[in-house]
Amino acid sequence: MDAIDVIVTKRDGRELSAEQIDWVVDAYTRGVVADEQMSSLAMAILLNGMNRREIAGWTQAMIRSGARMDWSALPGRTTDKHSTGGVGDKITLPLAPLVAACGGYVPQLSGRGLGHTGGTLDKLESIPGWRASLSNDEMLDVLGRAGAVVCAAGEGLAPADRKLYALRDVTGTVESIPLIASSIMSKKIAEGTGALVLDVKVGSGAFMKTVDRARELATTMVELGTDAGVRTVALLTAMDRPLGRTVGNALEVAESVEVLAGGGPADVVELTVRLAREMLDAAGLSGGKDPERALQDGSAMDVWRRMISAQGGDPDARLPRAAETLEVTAASSGVLTRLDAYGVGLAAWRLGAGRERKEDPVSFGAGVVLHAGLGDRVREGQPLMTLHTDEASRFERALAALDGAYVVGEHAGPDPLPLVIDRVTA
Ligand code: URA
Repeated sequence: MDAIDVIVTKRDGRELSAEQIDWVVDAYTRGVVADEQMSSLAMAILLNGMNRREIAGWTQAMIRSGARMDWSALPGRTTDKHSTGGVGDKITLPLAPLVAACGGYVPQLSGRGLGHTGGTLDKLESIPGWRASLSNDEMLDVLGRAGAVVCAAGEGLAPADRKLYALRDVTGTVESIPLIASSIMSKKIAEGTGALVLDVKVGSGAFMKTVDRARELATTMVELGTDAGVRTVALLTAMDRPLGRTVGNALEVAESVEVLAGGGPADVVELTVRLAREMLDAAGLSGGKDPERALQDGSAMDVWRRMISAQGGDPDARLPRAAETLEVTAASSGVLTRLDAYGVGLAAWRLGAGRERKEDPVSFGAGVVLHAGLGDRVREGQPLMTLHTDEASRFERALAALDGAYVVGEHAGPDPLPLVIDRVTA
């Protein structure tokens, strides 16, 4: 087998054989196939696509490149969620303890943020003492004690994807549905969950800008999960506007705690409860406690506190706050007809909530707090949002990101996307 044959097969629009896929993924992981050869193949895949058999083979080859986790020692069923990422998407924080409070075990391996969308680990690291890196034994221990664990994926999980994703990032080959689907699902299948709910975001603040592309990605991932024996369901959800009222690490933790205390913004509560029901249903656990009740009776909050403490965090500690704030007010009275997720996400990132390069630190207190939602009536001079940062010099570029991202009109605008747009099953 040689790399040029594999590249030319895909370049000419032909199907890769199972042997070609197994060989090229393994040889690339071992360093036998060079980065320039893999980037050429990734571009050929982006341009010519892969069919269901090829995508499944590619995913399995990436899973085989590393370890596979095993939760059979737990006394119950595992179920997990993956979101393709969005602005203000803090749902994992209330969702993992909520599902555990209703009888599921949630082994959630998460990532850090890059670009305008935040990462779950960055959010949780704003809690003093909380530790993202756990050994497999520690994960099992936290899962056993709390019912849910959120931590960093170890180096051993799908190393082929780790290497390939870094390469795609710098070669213009991220936006291929077969490559995105196999990248996400190789990690989720290797994580060993029995059931999986995918939250595929659609809109300006998401990877997928249109419902059609999001549906294609969701369908591909649901097929991959199902073929691998994981009960998989996907929801397409709105990311044309931010989720909830906060964007930024510690700000989003505070909002998540409000949800766990039985309050919080309606959209965050609705999506958390909907995803919890889907996760429980996919795991065959829907006969237990209802998620809405577990938010009201304090049981989800109890799990949160156990989960955070088990990873060294202090659930009662004061969260970091940014040193500087700036209010953005309405220039006229009317209706908030536009509140663009990408613009708000970019502003939060420029305030210091996100990172430019993988090795950059994030500012835990930085971000945006929204005081009005899409469709709300506002008066001239009323605060629309507050910007938070540690360095006042960042305000100017954050305000530039918000230019055109929000509009106060005289009349209500067109209806926004529904929060849950569609559901995709096998
Ligand atoms: N997230 C991933 O893990 N992989 C991709 O390819 C895109 C998003």
